[in-house]
Amino acid sequence: MLLPLIASRRRIAAVSLAFLFPLVGAATAHEGATGVVAQRMDVMKQMGQHMKALGAMVTGKTVFDQETAQHLAETMHQHCEHVMHMFPPGSDGHHSEATPAVWTNREEFDARMRRFDAAVEELMAAAASGDKAQLGTEFKAVGQECSGCHDTFRQKK
Ligand code: HEC
Repeated sequence: MLLPLIASRRRIAAVSLAFLFPLVGAATAHEGATGVVAQRMDVMKQMGQHMKALGAMVTGKTVFDQETAQHLAETMHQHCEHVMHMFPPGSDGHHSEATPAVWTNREEFDARMRRFDAAVEELMAAAASGDKAQLGTEFKAVGQECSGCHDTFRQKK
C-alpha cells in the first residue's frame, strides 16, 4: 500500500490528515502488534512511504514539485518527533521488531534519534529552499540515518 506520487492538493491534504490521525487503524498495522508497538510501526511505515515519494522526485522518476516536497518533508518531521517518544520502557516484545539494544543501549538510540531529527530538519530546509540538488543531498543523509539506526536497533528480517 505505497502512496502513489502525491501531486494534487487534495492528495496533499490526505497526507496531512494521515499525520493528524496517524494512530487510526494502527492496531492493525502489523500482525499481532498492538498499542504503542503497532503505532510506531505505522509511523515508521509512513515515513518509508514519504521517503519513497521524495526519492522518486529527487531522482527524476516523478516530476519535482516543491510544494509536495515541502509537505512530505514537514510531515516526516512531525512523524519523527512523534516516533522518538514511542519506545517507552517495557515496549519490547509484543511482536516488536526492535532489538533489545533500544532499551539496553538507550543513550545511543536517543542520540541516533536526535541525529535523525536534525537530518530531517535539514531536509525540510532544503525542501523550503526549492533547491533540488540540495534536497537530493539531504535526502541521502536522512536515508543514511534510517538505515544506520536499523542496523543496530531493528531486527534483521
Ligand atoms: C533511531 C532509530 C531509527 C531511525 C532513525 C529510523 N528507524 Fe525505522 N525502525 C526503528 C526500529 C527500532 C524499528 C522496529 C520497531 C518495532 O518493530 O517495534 C523500525 C521499523 C521500521 C519499519 C518497519 C515498520 C513495520 O511495519 O514493522 C520501517 C518501514 C521503517 N522503520 C522505516 C524507517 C525510515 C524510512 C526511516 C527514516 C526516514 C526510519 N525508519 C528511521 C528505528 C529507527
